[in-house]
Amino acid sequence: MKILAIETSCDETAVAILECSGNEKAAKFQILGDALLSQVEKHRPYGGVYPSLAKREHLKNLPHILDEALAQAGISVKEVDAIAVTAGPGLEPALWVGIEFAKKLAVEYDKPLVAVNHMEGHVLAALAQKKTDDRLQITDVQMPILALLISGGHTELVLMKKWLTYELVGQTLDDAVGEAFDKVGRMLGLPYPGGPEISRLAEQVRTSDVLTSNVGHRMSDIKLPRPMIDSNTCDFSFAGLKTAVLYLLKSLSKIPTNGMIYHTSPTEAQKKQIAHEFENAVADVLWKKTALALNQTGAKTLVIGGGVSANIHIRRTFRERIARDFPETGLRIPEFALTTDNAVMIALAGYYRALRDEFTSDIRANGNLALA
Ligand code: KG4
Ligand code: ZN
Repeated sequence: MKILAIETSCDETAVAILECSGNEKAAKFQILGDALLSQVEKHRPYGGVYPSLAKREHLKNLPHILDEALAQAGISVKEVDAIAVTAGPGLEPALWVGIEFAKKLAVEYDKPLVAVNHMEGHVLAALAQKKTDDRLQITDVQMPILALLISGGHTELVLMKKWLTYELVGQTLDDAVGEAFDKVGRMLGLPYPGGPEISRLAEQVRTSDVLTSNVGHRMSDIKLPRPMIDSNTCDFSFAGLKTAVLYLLKSLSKIPTNGMIYHTSPTEAQKKQIAHEFENAVADVLWKKTALALNQTGAKTLVIGGGVSANIHIRRTFRERIARDFPETGLRIPEFALTTDNAVMIALAGYYRALRDEFTSDIRANGNLALA
């Protein structure tokens, strides 16, 4: 079955065409076309995604992105079997652009439509293993699956005991982890999105001697809390961590000299140290809550999905600690190309829903669409 998938939930305009076969337990995919345009440069001056700009850009770019995906696949829309589109969660004005576009194509070419939950796309993208550059497969997955979903809008632990049936195990009580990365990035004067920038600085600390170099403050000054790490729930909180960075920056900027207080910007070395400690704090909390959830649920597979799963320190931490503490648990982390938003993951989820004949012409954008 050829699925044409459209993703416009945030600031990526993406279309993918996949040849899909098999069943839920053993599915194979060949990527025929995969076109993506990131709007990140356009949103950078605003320090975050600006919804009406995202909508305008999707409207302008979607026809070209479709043409590019079709050209890569060497087919026309006539030859696809179904059209999948993200219905939520995400920015509603942006979602509507993709949905209206998909509906028009479906009517024009008389194709069935499938509504996709973006987060289900992240889960399936993490389960999919790359065989060659353009082939993916989802096989040998032990149930139940625990999914740690970490993105700009979500931080949650969900359990899948049966395919595509989700139970919420834990979630953030305030900020999403990607949001915390982006806000801390802004406080450190880094460009949007902050996640990859913080990761870059933190890795420099791990691979250099900046921790021991003379930067004006001892490393012990740079200590951040691990919110809720010892609470006996699988819920998270990141707002306090973000505020702790703010207070830390304020305290570092005050230099008492001759009875006066002078304010300075953090040095590059201090920024690196803060990025490093912030990332360590995030990884520690994510791991502790996930370990608690693995013990509570007895899940046999752990999946990490969403944009923050691109973070190399989090990937490394989970690989090491799963091998150490849960050697029987299978760990699935997406290919780098499938971590942040893309349309391949929407095609995977579209196929799984098409296998259940969940076709509908009545798709509405739902910014808060939940998995469970
Ligand atoms: O899944 P995604 O592409 O979009 C949403 O659905 O939200 O996730 C975007 C988030 C942003 O907050 C971004 O800063 C974060 O993922 N992110 C990262 C990294 N790459 C992207 N966070 C930490 N480290 C990274 N390497
Ligand atoms: Zn996403």
